[in-house]
Amino acid sequence: MGDWKLLHFDDIPSTNELAKELVLKSEISYNSVIYADSQSSGKGRYDRKWHSPKGNLYCSFVVENKNPSCYSFVSALSVLDSFFELGLKKGTSCKWPNDVLIDGKKSSGILLEVCESALIIGIGINIISSFLNSKYETCSLSDYGIEISPQQLLEVLSNNLSSNIKILNDKGFALIREKWLNYAHNLDSQIEVTTINEKMVGIFKGISEQGALLLDTGKETKQIMAGDVFYL
Ligand code: BTN
Repeated sequence: MGDWKLLHFDDIPSTNELAKELVLKSEISYNSVIYADSQSSGKGRYDRKWHSPKGNLYCSFVVENKNPSCYSFVSALSVLDSFFELGLKKGTSCKWPNDVLIDGKKSSGILLEVCESALIIGIGINIISSFLNSKYETCSLSDYGIEISPQQLLEVLSNNLSSNIKILNDKGFALIREKWLNYAHNLDSQIEVTTINEKMVGIFKGISEQGALLLDTGKETKQIMAGDVFYL
C-alpha cells in the first residue's frame, strides 16, 4: 500500500463519514486510507446516494488539507492513471470537476470533504456493477473486460495518488492542470452547467488556474467553481 496506512472494513455506512468521525476524535493520521467492501449509506456529491454493493471499490484517503480545488483534479487524474495502467486508454477522459468517463460514461465518483485540518478524498470506482442513472450513462470496468479485485485496484490507485500528490507538491498546480486538460472530455464543445442557482449553456473553454470551469456564454467567459456539467 505504499505510504498509505490501510484500515479495512467489511460493511460500514460510508468510508467518508467514518474518516470524518476518526479525524474529529484524532484517531486517524494523515496518509491513511479507509476502505470498505460495501457501504450501507454511500454518499455522492450534493448529498446524492452512492449505491455501494460488494464488488466495487469504496475508499477514503485522509490527507492534510492544503488546497481542495487542486486535490479534486489530482484525485481524478489518479483514477485516470489507474485506468490507463489497466489498459483502458482509448475513450477514457476527464469531466469537470472530478469525474472520469469511459466512452463518455461515468465510471467512478469522487467526493472531497474538509474536516478540521484534514481533507477526505472519497473515491468510488465501479468494478463489477454500475447503478443506472436517468441523467447520465454509467459503466463499470467489467463492461470493458477488466477483472480486478477492489483491493488490487486500491493498490494501483494509492500509488497513482501518491505520484500525483508529489507532482502537485513539487511542480505546482500548473502541471496537474495541463495533464487534466490533455484528457478533458468535449473541450471547445457546447455544454450545459447547472449550479445551485442557475443553469447556463456555453462553450467549455477549459479550467482556470484556480480550477474553475471556464464557460464562454457568447457574452462573457464565466468562471464556475461548483456545479454539474451535461454534454449537449
Ligand atoms: C459522486 O460522483 O457523486 C461522488 C461519489 C463518491 C462515492 C465515494 S465511495 C467512497 C466514499 N464514501 C462515500 O460515502 N462516498 C465516497
